[in-house]
This record gives sequence, C-alpha cells and structure tokens, in this order.
Amino acid sequence: MNIKINGETRDLGELDPETPLLWVLRDELNLVGAKYGCGISQCGACTILVDNVAVKSCSYPVASVGEASVTTIEGLADANGELSALQKAWVDLDVAQCGYCQSGQVMAAEALLRSNPNPSDDEIDRAMASNICRCGTYIRIRNAVKTAAGQLATEE
Ligand code: FES
Ligand code: FES
Repeated sequence: MNIKINGETRDLGELDPETPLLWVLRDELNLVGAKYGCGISQCGACTILVDNVAVKSCSYPVASVGEASVTTIEGLADANGELSALQKAWVDLDVAQCGYCQSGQVMAAEALLRSNPNPSDDEIDRAMASNICRCGTYIRIRNAVKTAAGQLATEE
C-alpha cells in the first residue's frame, strides 16, 4: 500500500487496510506530531488533513486515504524549515501550555484557513470546537488563527 503524505509517496508495505491512520503515521512513518488522546474521535489530538479536510486520524482507516494527499504537522513548514504563518503565530503568541493537544489544534486551524481564509470569531470557535484543550488555551488559539489570517491576507 502507498500513501501520499507531506508531498511524498511512501510505501507502507503489507498493512491491514483497517489500521487507523494515526498508528501508521506514528509507528510506520515516524511522524509523531499527531497525538493519541482519546482514540474515539472526541478530542482532536490526532487531527491531520486529508485533501485539506481535518480528519481525526485515530478513527480513520488508512485505506480510506486512497489517492488523497495527507498533510501532518510535519508537512506545514516549507522545504527550508521555514514555519508556516499559522505556526509562527502559534509561537509568537505562546499558545501552547502543556502542548499535548497543540498539533491537532494547529491542523484543525489549518483546515479552517484553507477553506475560510478570513474567519470571524464565531467561525473560529465553531471550527475549533472539534478540538479539546485541557489547559484552556482557547483564547490564544483564536488569537493565533486571526493573526495568521491577517498575515496570509497581507501576503496575497
Ligand atoms: S485521539 Fe483521535 S480524536 Fe482523540
Ligand atoms: S495545551 Fe495542554 S491540553 Fe492543550
């Protein structure tokens, strides 16, 4: 089985097609940014993108990817390691507390900005409601999304 991920095609060899994508990312591809939280599609710690749509990879069979392109947090920086606007905003605003949920938060925000480059506060809150932060960093998350949206708008 092959998978298109972060701009490359990777050979996964023989694999049970029902294997959750999160297991493949972490155990087969050593992409450990996506985290295991609940395992039942409730917390968002494992969020990645499949063709620009946020997906909870703990509950997503690897075979469901098919010909789509997967993006993980490791794929957001450019080839020179330059962080994306969203990642920079996250760092500048010191969003993370313990950090465990943050990869999933960034990927959910990335999906939002790819579909809605200028979201309102309500739209941010609705989109990010898919992801839980036990440290309560929600206000900083919203501010980082707005900062990144503003930055991306000036780059256009
Ligand atoms: S670990 Fe996937 S949603 Fe919680
Ligand atoms: S930063 Fe700790 S759970 Fe979100």
